[in-house]
Amino acid sequence: MNFNTLLVSTENYITTITLNRPDKLNALNAELLLELQQALTQLALDSQTRALIITGSGVKSFAAGADIEELHTCDADSGFEFARRGQKVFDMIENFPVPVIAAVNGFALGGGCELAMSCHFRYAATNAKFGQPEVKLGIIPGYGGTQRLTRHCGVAHATEIICSGIMIDAERAQQIGLVSTVVPQEELMSSCIEIASKITAMAPLAVTASLNAIREQFMPTNEECMIAEAREFARICGTQDFKEGTLAFLEKRATNFVAA
Ligand code: COA
Repeated sequence: MNFNTLLVSTENYITTITLNRPDKLNALNAELLLELQQALTQLALDSQTRALIITGSGVKSFAAGADIEELHTCDADSGFEFARRGQKVFDMIENFPVPVIAAVNGFALGGGCELAMSCHFRYAATNAKFGQPEVKLGIIPGYGGTQRLTRHCGVAHATEIICSGIMIDAERAQQIGLVSTVVPQEELMSSCIEIASKITAMAPLAVTASLNAIREQFMPTNEECMIAEAREFARICGTQDFKEGTLAFLEKRATNFVAA
């Protein structure tokens, strides 16, 4: 499989997708999301893939969020589709027929954190940093973050992280159940391959049935919750503060929010 923004390789039934925009800290632009959707569609039918690992290129970042240059162009009309497009790709990961492991090798912020949270479980390097900094940009998480962070870590941790925009380190992420294992950066991929190898050695039909059964607890309400998040996201895309927050990032200056 050849992509501009992804590297994809398969060995011993384990496929690795590497997000590959290192100069932009693997920020998720429209091209990357489309290519991720195409890769997932093909891999879901691939009998050689019995476990999937998603990671970021370089040692600094898993993914630093939605591409803010593209995000800045959203308004209240286009914001809904912007959110739904990302949500649908991440839903494909959550619904993927074999276990998906996020190998979080650095920043997992905004859409990057949301991508990691849509994977079935997360291993993190000691230098990993997680956060939903959208409020700093005058916006809210729109790729499922309000739902999945709450589901994974509970209302209190999710509210603290989303409403303050703070970054948390790998140690705290493990304490609150966001990641299952923390390892030194140089051991991250080998640790993920080790657990993926255990999975690929199990009965494939039983592994997929286990995923289906685990998903049962939240699937009936998931779609409605995602649509509610996308509506709020779109509403906030219509505000002056959203334009100010994203422009301030692009112009590398402090924000001046006016609550309008
Ligand atoms: N969208 C678009 N570009 C991004 C980006 C994003 N989400 N995150 C980082 N980049 C770009 C930067 O603009 C910079 O590009 P440039 O070299 O052309 O100026 C490059 O990636 C490197 O980032 P930089 O900010 O210089 O690195 P840093 O080490 O100083 O800071 C972060 C790292 C992650 C703290 C910082 O990049 C950041 O805050 N990113 C935005 C995170 C965010 O708000 N995500 C949610 C988006 S909804």
